[in-house]
Amino acid sequence: MSHSTSLKPATARPSSALSGSVRIPGDKSISHRSFLFGGLASGETRISGLLEGEDILATGEAMKAMGAVIRKSGGEWIIHGTGNGCLLEPERELDFGNAGTGVRLTMGLTGVYDMETRFTGDASLVKRPMGRVLDPLRLMGVQVGAAEGDRLPLTLRGPRTANPISYRVPMPSAQVKSAVLLAGLNTPGVTTVIEPVMTRDHTEKMLAGFGAELEVETDGDGVRHIRIEGQGRLSGQTIAVPGDPSSTAFPLVAALIVPGSDVTIENVLMNPTRSGLITTLLEMGGSIEITNERQAGGEDVADLRVRASDLKGVTVPADRAPAMIDEYPVLAVAASFAEGETMMPGLDELRVKESDRLAAVARGLEINGVDCSEGEDWLSVRGKPGGKGLGAASREAVVATHLDHRIAMSFLVMGLAAEHGTKVDDAAIIATSFPEFMELMAGLGAEIEAAE
Ligand code: S3P
Repeated sequence: MSHSTSLKPATARPSSALSGSVRIPGDKSISHRSFLFGGLASGETRISGLLEGEDILATGEAMKAMGAVIRKSGGEWIIHGTGNGCLLEPERELDFGNAGTGVRLTMGLTGVYDMETRFTGDASLVKRPMGRVLDPLRLMGVQVGAAEGDRLPLTLRGPRTANPISYRVPMPSAQVKSAVLLAGLNTPGVTTVIEPVMTRDHTEKMLAGFGAELEVETDGDGVRHIRIEGQGRLSGQTIAVPGDPSSTAFPLVAALIVPGSDVTIENVLMNPTRSGLITTLLEMGGSIEITNERQAGGEDVADLRVRASDLKGVTVPADRAPAMIDEYPVLAVAASFAEGETMMPGLDELRVKESDRLAAVARGLEINGVDCSEGEDWLSVRGKPGGKGLGAASREAVVATHLDHRIAMSFLVMGLAAEHGTKVDDAAIIATSFPEFMELMAGLGAEIEAAE
């Protein structure tokens, strides 16, 4: 699953008005959880609209290695799960490629089992901190053998009987919250996660849907207390995965910045823990019409009609960051075309994503002529409406993507409206989360191509 040997540079050129309708592939967070929970539950789970990105397929392979039976029939994925508490010891090391969500949630799921599980990943994933998940697992009695600094590759061995804990999540992270809840599934008694800052709530919602005994209480200070009763029965479900709002962000911003564009994006998940980018772009003056609001798969979904707009800089409230944490790179691109300054505080978590995203975005903006400043946990961008002078004015102006799919897609979107277009050093990594990106964007009229 290594991309480092097969980098595929790509170029984006200033494009004429984007138009048409697109349907965004399934949500990455919900797709991972569909394979994990379906693989664990008793009986059959059927999934439609699953995101077939490399990250998700790696999670599917891991569940297969632990006893789940997973197959595809037509457009549907059909899983026969092992039953809660009945995962098998995998014979091989589980390789999660680029996927932080896949590896961290699976560490929670299997860590408390009285068996040995080995985890690894690609050159990006082995640099990312795993201590945030290992710390609560150690409290539950899990033995950890990890590379220096609690990094991958690592081995987990659970105790005979895991210890239920009450754990206050120290950073706003849905992955950490989820890992502890999943460990609680195979632990006797009640495991509690205390979440001071609300993050995406797919794990809570979906586990309840699979029949887990789970309750959520929000106290007077807005702190969430999530309690899960371990060793209960989970039953297979039918899941329709809604379109990924994080993937939506790319055609959405492209339509706002390419003059004359008018694009409709269908079937977008509108869960409030995920829709911070839409709120922000509306505040910037973006023309985004939310239509056809409905329920699908237990979630709110809608279609978005997006028209090219004159954007204005704003200050994004720091407490909105968890609801748009993956969208800052592409927001920074939108800000590059806005009048005035866009200030983005509260971004410390961006330092530990697929790359140090704060640094990767700032360097990418700089080489494309955007006036920006980077602090330890903030970024500010002073935009140029019309994009005059922006882009890859010299041969050397190639954005380093650092095995980060969202850096690659963000800077390709930028090139559609920047005077000189843009170049990125790799587009192959996009397949981890959005394999259809090139084709979908081309269908709207975007001029993006793999460089010769
Ligand atoms: C995710 C949680 C977020 C997000 C990631 C997906 C999830 O990570 O960045 O892309 O599905 O739980 P953190 O938990 O590290 O914030």
